[in-house]
Amino acid sequence: MVTDLDLALRNAVGLRKSNDIYVLTDDNSQKYCLPLVRQTLELADSHILCLPHGEEQKTLASVETIWQFLINQHATRRSLLLIVGGGVLTDMGGFAASTFKRGIPYVNIPTTLLAMVDAAQGGKTGFDYCGLKNEIGMFASPKDTIVYPPFLKTLPHEQLLSGYAEMLKHALIASPLELIHVLAFNLDDIDWEIFAELIQRSIDIKQYIVEQDTEETGLRKSLNFGHTVGHALEEYYLSHRPEPGNDRPAASPLTHGYAVMYGIVAELYLSVSKLSLPQQTLTQVAHFMTEHYGKPVCPCKDYSVLIDLMRHDKKNNSDSEINFSLLRQVGNCRIDQHCSEQEITEALDFLFNL
Ligand code: GLY
Repeated sequence: MVTDLDLALRNAVGLRKSNDIYVLTDDNSQKYCLPLVRQTLELADSHILCLPHGEEQKTLASVETIWQFLINQHATRRSLLLIVGGGVLTDMGGFAASTFKRGIPYVNIPTTLLAMVDAAQGGKTGFDYCGLKNEIGMFASPKDTIVYPPFLKTLPHEQLLSGYAEMLKHALIASPLELIHVLAFNLDDIDWEIFAELIQRSIDIKQYIVEQDTEETGLRKSLNFGHTVGHALEEYYLSHRPEPGNDRPAASPLTHGYAVMYGIVAELYLSVSKLSLPQQTLTQVAHFMTEHYGKPVCPCKDYSVLIDLMRHDKKNNSDSEINFSLLRQVGNCRIDQHCSEQEITEALDFLFNL
């Protein structure tokens, strides 16, 4: 985390001249955050590619647009791609940079909470394909990730909540004390100093895990807690778009963090039923969810669609078993847990009838 953006940018760029620096951004970040970056680096407009924001943009076509931009601008292997945006952009831009001319360096400058604590950390890159989240991608670490919390001051509350779901996930897999801090933090009247500390601890939790298991062969799977159901819900909302209920403030589609929040509650239910996680944790988190995130909508007739999407999750080792990371205790995550359709249906019933 940095307090001096100017200094951090200059360090990241090193001795490169401005015509070797390329900027990828999205329309929101261009408006609210890019002016600070451009001012420091004295960049010309021709070096900037601005894409529309949103998960629907996380496509092969967008990746091709980035490659085309780099080709048209005569980028070389000495070039550096600065990615100023949210998680969709850091995932997609990281992939485009890492495959262009067999890989050019890139620097993440996340502008959303979700990207700061999760997407821009840990080197997962990629894009959605065939209706499946992050189906094509690779591990490729950025040269640097510059986290500058003042960017968050212009972020819509819903986007802040989206990132906060990942912070809650980190707390649940890290420790009871961190969970208390995250659940108690006042999201309606933010103390930015305390928030910056919470964000830094959340990043530390993720980095500690990623350092031990970069390519997700074991421990890193714990970061998938909440994501088996969460990704299925996100994909379901992208393709089915249920009518927005009174309880859900967001217009469709569902943001990643909202989907993860709902996935966390469903997977806490599974943790209680399969691993005897104390019920109190589920009750506390379900209450936090309904208070801040409203309730998701999905008719029972579509549970089979959700379960089918879970079956296609790339975290599975085979089509017949659906893989979960579940909690035995707060701070004690068990990876590679398999749940039956009946168990998953019960968890979905709990979630959709809160
Ligand atoms: N978002 C989970 C991970 O980076 O492993």
